[in-house]
Amino acid sequence: MSAPAVALDGVGFRRPGAAAPALEAIYLSIAAGEVVALVGPSGAGKSTLLTLLDGRLRGWTGCATTLGRALYPDRPPPRAARAETGFVFQSFALVERATARRNVLNGRLGRMPLLPSLMGRARPEDDAAASAALREVGLLDAAVTRVDRLSGGQRQRVALARCLAQEPRLILADEPVASLDPRRAREALRLLADLAISRGATLIFSSHQPALALEVATRAVALREGRIAFDGPAKELTETALEDVYGAAPRASLRLAG
Ligand SMILES: Nc1ncnc2c1ncn2[C@@H]1O[C@H](COP(=O)(O)OP(=O)(O)OP(=O)(O)O)[C@@H](O)[C@H]1O
Ligand SMILES: [Mg+2]
Repeated sequence: MSAPAVALDGVGFRRPGAAAPALEAIYLSIAAGEVVALVGPSGAGKSTLLTLLDGRLRGWTGCATTLGRALYPDRPPPRAARAETGFVFQSFALVERATARRNVLNGRLGRMPLLPSLMGRARPEDDAAASAALREVGLLDAAVTRVDRLSGGQRQRVALARCLAQEPRLILADEPVASLDPRRAREALRLLADLAISRGATLIFSSHQPALALEVATRAVALREGRIAFDGPAKELTETALEDVYGAAPRASLRLAG
């Protein structure tokens, strides 16, 4: 049996001077290939948890592994391990003045030998991976367009393509569709999940749109005040359960689709 994509054992984290921990007593095991929605109110710890799983958080406690490799609270993972985890940011984090293709190729940097990566020199296999990723998100025609000339939805797909070109086995996405209109958000999230599934990758994404998130995810993990308030099949995260998680949040914002 393969190692879980994520295993957290009693993980906690408190920022220096913070009144309350951002994460507390987190136990979580996510199998390879799962599609997991991370929900919960603002400040619940979703971004903190994703940052930890990406190997960028320092000073946490407990034990954590991703893709069978230990993470350490005092140092980033080695380069080869970092290449196996992809991250999609809400803000897309693209190089605005570069083309879509150059941005997607940036996703390959961690997979290139160090010297060519420093010189930004793509190998044929990197070009091929970039083209394949642009094709998969339907943006091959825009490959040589500068990103600052693309719409929000197109930029979001460039960010997805960059992540795919990296060929990650674990995809972490922090509110990846928050800046899109409802229809584009649904399409983009579906695309992200389908691409993850077709590549056998594990996907963990956070979202403030529980109804949408639960359409796409098979499993839901809800955080509240740094703790896991729900962990189970997405279809079991009912409106009542969501109200428990979100507390006094307005009912209308939580209503499930269908
Ligand atoms: N850079 C920071 N400096 C200090 N405190 C922070 C910082 N980032 C987050 N926090 C605090 O850590 C806790 C968890 O925040 P986190 O950003 O993980 O929540 P979140 O669930 O992602 O919220 P949101 O839905 O608003 O993105 C909160 O109490 C927050 O105020
Ligand atoms: Mg956040």
